[in-house]
Amino acid sequence: MKVYIKTAAIIFLLTSSAVAQQVPQLGKHTIKEVIGAMTLDEKVDFIKGIGMGVSSGQNGPVAGSIGGRVIGAAGATTKIPRLGIPEIIVADGPAGLRIEPVKIMNSSEVRYATAFPMGTAVASSWNTALANKVGKAMGNDVLQFGVDVILGPGANIQRNLLCGRNFEYYSEDPVVAGNIAAAFIDGVQSNNVGVSIKHFAANNQETSRNYIDVIISQRALREIYLKAFEIAIKKSQPWTVMSSYNKINGTYASESHELLTTILRDEWKFKGMVMTDWFAGRDYPLQVKAGNDLLMPGRKRESQKIKEAIENNEISIQDLDRNIEKILGLILKTPSFKKYNHQNAPDDKNNAMISKQSAAEGMVLLKNNNVLPFREKRIALLGNSSYDTFVGGTGSGEVNIAHSVSFWEGLSKAGFKLDNRLKSSYMGHIEKEKLARPKRNNILEAIKPVGELNVERSKMDTLANSSDIALITIGRNAGEGTDRSVTNDFNLSDQEMTLIKNTADIFHQKGKKVVVALNIDALIDVASWKDLVDGIIITWLPGQEAGDAFAEIISGKTNPSGHLAQSLPLKYTDVPSAGSFPGLPKERPTKSYYNEGVYVGYRYYSSFNKPVCYEFGFGLSYTQFSITNSTISNSKFKEAVDVGITIKNIGKTAGKEVVQLYVSAPGKTMEKPEIELKGFEKTELLSSGKSQKIKFTLTASDLASFDSSRSAWVVEPGTYKIKIGNSSKNILRTITFEVDKEIIVEKVTDVLKPKEAFEEIKVANQ
Ligand code: BGC
Repeated sequence: MKVYIKTAAIIFLLTSSAVAQQVPQLGKHTIKEVIGAMTLDEKVDFIKGIGMGVSSGQNGPVAGSIGGRVIGAAGATTKIPRLGIPEIIVADGPAGLRIEPVKIMNSSEVRYATAFPMGTAVASSWNTALANKVGKAMGNDVLQFGVDVILGPGANIQRNLLCGRNFEYYSEDPVVAGNIAAAFIDGVQSNNVGVSIKHFAANNQETSRNYIDVIISQRALREIYLKAFEIAIKKSQPWTVMSSYNKINGTYASESHELLTTILRDEWKFKGMVMTDWFAGRDYPLQVKAGNDLLMPGRKRESQKIKEAIENNEISIQDLDRNIEKILGLILKTPSFKKYNHQNAPDDKNNAMISKQSAAEGMVLLKNNNVLPFREKRIALLGNSSYDTFVGGTGSGEVNIAHSVSFWEGLSKAGFKLDNRLKSSYMGHIEKEKLARPKRNNILEAIKPVGELNVERSKMDTLANSSDIALITIGRNAGEGTDRSVTNDFNLSDQEMTLIKNTADIFHQKGKKVVVALNIDALIDVASWKDLVDGIIITWLPGQEAGDAFAEIISGKTNPSGHLAQSLPLKYTDVPSAGSFPGLPKERPTKSYYNEGVYVGYRYYSSFNKPVCYEFGFGLSYTQFSITNSTISNSKFKEAVDVGITIKNIGKTAGKEVVQLYVSAPGKTMEKPEIELKGFEKTELLSSGKSQKIKFTLTASDLASFDSSRSAWVVEPGTYKIKIGNSSKNILRTITFEVDKEIIVEKVTDVLKPKEAFEEIKVANQ
């Protein structure tokens, strides 16, 4: 009997291990074999995430948290242990890793991710090497905190300055947005973790974001809105792409085969995985069919619908398998799959340094009437945001941080003399105002600046006597889900205008100067008050080291070198999309007509001769630069032209310059913007008298425009002007070359066509 039982046990062990061996395991067997072993139920479960609020947390279940092991992560994929498939974790971006701070077991220590400057600030540096460093540092946080993919960067075009998520995005120009995104992605992914470039595509507003239908021409889509993604995706192969909430010409982005398969996969050769934005789209089987591989964050009903669609032959099992293959391909690359033993040990010191450096380099000096830099001065520090500085936006773009340095703190650490009584008044005022806020509508209320402290003229007079200079900060913040408004965001409030006017009036009477810092998420009105003050600097939302970066710029320790990556109009109504944003019908827009076509930002202002307050590409320095030499390889275009310039620091202070290359096309056979940015480069830190050579190469695809009638990228013949400068207006060199005959660079598929006729503005009609 005993012998019998033993034999049976051995037989059982042998057969069960044989069975175990037969079950394909991810990593040990091919992806196809693993998919072959999945049941239909496993498959339809696997192509969606694990949902919200289902985390097991670090120390057991945590109600309301999401994303498996990492509390505060945005989501996770479904694990299938029997096939060796682990869950992987995704968490927001793009200004830093958005997770809950991590409590270290058996210790009182809590560890935080770093908050870097907002996307626009990084882009304002025009420094791809710096964007790469930011990505590298952020990616290290991703790895250290046990996350596999960060949900960023945001490569949407800043079509209208009222978009509530502009702060997460880079620029109104696709060459800036695409190249900064590419550098950032390379940086993140050098840590062997992934990114999700988002929100693909034409997600340019928050109003009605879940259902707005973007009605847009194929040309504007290809040349502006898709271009930023195309550049970044082709250059840096992000691990994942996030499809957007909106519709494009009638179809949800996440349900669009034309967008996600024809363009992204077939034309651009994207090899990675596509996920939806959170709860995006309506028709889940259609999402599967479109090539939207993963549905996030994941709901049961999605699996049910997809199963039904398979059973009813509405979608094929091949579609499902193809998507699963992409998800598994992603999982194979991740730290979770490789069982990376993350220690929740971020490199805080290095991260803080990169955060500060990028914050300082993204600050844009707009006006400097011999006032900056200054040291050792007694500053009358005014404006709520000087004390309660906005360091980052809200919503998924927010970062939970350990600390942040306000402007007050940064300036006082740097040795400036500040008035402590003034500080107390401001702090008391801010606290009181915040407490008095209506409790409802919390999120919105929390991000809006509180009313400015009213500094009486008599008090201002005393301040002016005891200070050498006045520094006023005007603050704005924004977040996902709502757009900005002209009245509350773009325009200054009466209190803010009074503060600027009174300060300027009283300080100037005493021969003292006034500087305004703009601690803002996106551009605001400057034209109506810029003449009243002596200096203006945009600090953006500069991340956790805000005040230290700011003090470096004010004191001259860092020479400002940020330039605007968007145009600042004279007034909101000058914005080319002002009439059509956020869409129709006005009460609850469902359609957004992109009537301005390719004329977004400076493409519009330069072509329609509209004056602006500060032009795209503008930014001052404490030194001056000049271009001392320029060359072109050939004046007849063959396959490419090389343009060389030498730039020299002709001032007294070391500094960096942004060299911008624009092209004016002949515009004879096609409508063309007056100028288009085709290249840019940030110099190294050049000390006084030093020069740097910079080379740009322009290929036919750089010069091509999209001809919708032929569905082709075409270079028209004629004389092209290359304009090199340090802003879109300040052109320092112009070089011409000829294209003898038309070049068809690429024929593409005729997709994403508008289904209704609508007007697009034309220079010829103005
Ligand atoms: C946002 C995405 C974000 C996701 C996960 C969505 O509401 O649009 O940008 O990555 O939530 O938090």
